[in-house]
Amino acid sequence: MGFDLKEIVAARLGENYQLHEQHLNRTLVAAQRVIGFDKVYARAEGAYLYDMDDVPYLDFLSGYSVYNIGRNHPVAQQAIRDVLDLDLPNMVQMDCSLLSGLLAEAITKRTPAHLDAVFFCNSGTEAMEGALKFARAATGRKRFISIEGAFHGLSLGALSLMGCESFTEGFGPLMDGFETRVALDDISALEHELAKRDVAAFVIEPLQGKGCKSPKGDFYMRAQELCRRHGTLLIADEIQTGLGRTGKMFGFQHWKLEPDIITLAKTLSGGYVPCGAIIARRSVYQKTFSRMDRCVVHSTTFGRNNLAMACGLAALQVIDDEKLIENAETMGALLMQRIDALRAKHSSIKEVRGKGLMIAIEFQEPTEFKLKLGWRLLHKVDKVLFAQMVVTQMLSKHRILTQVAGHAMDVLKILPPLIIREREIDMFVHALDDVLTECRRFPGPMWEIGNNFVRHALRSRKGGEPRPPVPA
Ligand SMILES: Cc1ncc(COP(=O)(O)O)c(C=O)c1O
Repeated sequence: MGFDLKEIVAARLGENYQLHEQHLNRTLVAAQRVIGFDKVYARAEGAYLYDMDDVPYLDFLSGYSVYNIGRNHPVAQQAIRDVLDLDLPNMVQMDCSLLSGLLAEAITKRTPAHLDAVFFCNSGTEAMEGALKFARAATGRKRFISIEGAFHGLSLGALSLMGCESFTEGFGPLMDGFETRVALDDISALEHELAKRDVAAFVIEPLQGKGCKSPKGDFYMRAQELCRRHGTLLIADEIQTGLGRTGKMFGFQHWKLEPDIITLAKTLSGGYVPCGAIIARRSVYQKTFSRMDRCVVHSTTFGRNNLAMACGLAALQVIDDEKLIENAETMGALLMQRIDALRAKHSSIKEVRGKGLMIAIEFQEPTEFKLKLGWRLLHKVDKVLFAQMVVTQMLSKHRILTQVAGHAMDVLKILPPLIIREREIDMFVHALDDVLTECRRFPGPMWEIGNNFVRHALRSRKGGEPRPPVPA
């Protein structure tokens, strides 16, 4: 019998969680069951996932911002088919492939002129690792400064940039030279460190993934000036904020910055094939590839593979053709305004923040007496549980996929695909309104969900049971 993928999928769809429990990360399976995320999705299109009964789910998570152009976009699909039909030579390695040249050209057409040299890799964290190496090679310096609360990936170098113990616990010691983090807006702490003139790069996510935070004042501009004065490079991690997510091509453009290096991944290949990129000033880039015998001193086997490059070309074209950046800006503003209007009705909404379609909804202790009790009960156990309860009910009752924004945060985060229209905004706002209204019934079904989390969280502390997953 030959290999027939369609037959295999038709025969075995539904065994997903059982297979994962047996062969992959069973702790993740258990956590997904606790939060009611153990759905089986059978297909996907645009902004929707469909279960085995073809019931639609609105995807306001976009694979953590991989699907800015929507899922299974026909232009990206066609690009893959074309690569296969053309029988192109792939990863010859000791050649220069056309598609990687074309994608580098297409990216640099969209970056400011000084960001003109591209390196391709396979993921966000790999792009960050490369950027850190480039910065060390270019400056001859060892240290890095990052911002508290940042997320830059989970390989050892990127992880070392992050202070969050929920990710670093058990993996130490972290890398030497990565110890310093400054708070957003704390320019004097940054100045103090940069003045030591031993910092290779200051690393920012223009809008932080965990909680969608950004500086209140002119912190980034002043930081950039200080970096220049003290010979430190500025790295902007655009892995989540890049390619239209925030309503501009790149997040750093909101502050008119000129970073020396940026990193991309996630949506760069339209959601089909892993792809990451480092884009740097040529002068910085050449310090790594400084001699003939160093021409592959930083390299990765699959980095310029044809499928990823073709999908990258397709994704950039779709972003332009469908005016997705403009759509992210207008739909994002409308969505934030509509959510913000719910504050008048729901005292549990503290703040709505973000840019474009990268939006955080922060909750606070409600003013209503009964709600306060529920809130306090959940908070005693874990700060994230109220937001998780809302996220769970958004999926269970309204079939809308969202996420909590980080550990120990009262924040629900949304990353819809940039193709959404008012219909999807209406669906989300109506659902959030309904779920927060349901919270008013204490005790009631919503708080049953909360109670269930409390039970699991307490058991988890004693060991053995997983806590709900909190990705970036
Ligand atoms: C800002 C940022 N940097 C880096 C990464 C790591 O990317 P990857 O998961 O592809 O390694 C992420 C992933 O969520 C991210 O949001």
